[in-house]
Amino acid sequence: MTSHTYLSELFSLDGRVAVVTGGSSGIGGAIAGALARAGASVVIVARKERELAAAVDELAADGCRAAWVSADLSTREAVRAAAEQAVEVFGEPDILVNSAGINLRPPMEELDEEVWDVTMAVNLEAPYLLGQRFGPGMAQRGFGRIIHISSQQAHRAFVRSGAYGVSKGALESLARSQAEAWSPHGVTSNTLVPGFVLTPLNARLSSDPETVAALAARTMAGRNGLAEDFAGAAVFLAGPASGYITGQSIFVDGGLSVH
Ligand SMILES: NC(=O)c1ccc[n+]([C@@H]2O[C@H](COP(=O)([O-])OP(=O)(O)OC[C@H]3O[C@@H](n4cnc5c(N)ncnc54)[C@H](OP(=O)(O)O)[C@@H]3O)[C@@H](O)[C@H]2O)c1
Repeated sequence: MTSHTYLSELFSLDGRVAVVTGGSSGIGGAIAGALARAGASVVIVARKERELAAAVDELAADGCRAAWVSADLSTREAVRAAAEQAVEVFGEPDILVNSAGINLRPPMEELDEEVWDVTMAVNLEAPYLLGQRFGPGMAQRGFGRIIHISSQQAHRAFVRSGAYGVSKGALESLARSQAEAWSPHGVTSNTLVPGFVLTPLNARLSSDPETVAALAARTMAGRNGLAEDFAGAAVFLAGPASGYITGQSIFVDGGLSVH
């Protein structure tokens, strides 16, 4: 057996179909690219059409199979519609990545119901609804991979965690519930936990060089995260090699959480 064949058996996503929410930017963008380059046909879901089209064009130029669906995942109706549109492209997914997320940071005493509701809708309910839509089919077919992107704020407060931290804590619990339900049928559900990653999501914090340096110093690796740091972990969790890993929260944070 050549090393190439061996590595393919462990990690190849050839023939798989993936749906990646938030796949037009940041961590989701890097993950969508990684899954596509590892062989999966990928449908990315987000709101802004121009960014979606640019991400898909880049993948197509690299010889990948990719498509996009524009949807605002903050309402249940739109999530359901997006799921149906997504399966029209390449069929039912084997892999679901929930990376779409918002982080609104009002001070706690100003955290109103509107911020609470939209945070829960995008960060928690959309992953729940997509899991309910795709998980049972994965279980029936005997293979599935669900990957959620949570946050260090699922584990500790960090700069006005507010509703965001709550949504991410619950998201990790959702992964465990899904793992409990569907792992007997070949479906794993896991969470990747970023620390501080330089993406458009935290443009305000990352535009301050002192903050960026201070946060980098809190890691063991001595730098903040990049979206590309999630590529390998996502391919691993999406593929055959990780079949016995389920219900886990895996920190991709340069050691921030243990420093
Ligand atoms: N960056 C960090 O330091 C960090 C740390 C911990 C956790 N995370 C988590 O990692 C995930 C990805 O974040 P990121 O840093 O990569 O952020 P990002 O670059 O801002 O990307 C967010 C993605 O979600 C999509 N999105 C946002 N709201 C949406 C909505 N209502 N409906 C559909 N799509 C929506 C965005 O596209 P549109 O705007 O076009 O909709 C975009 O594709 C999030 O869940 C975030 O909470 C990030």
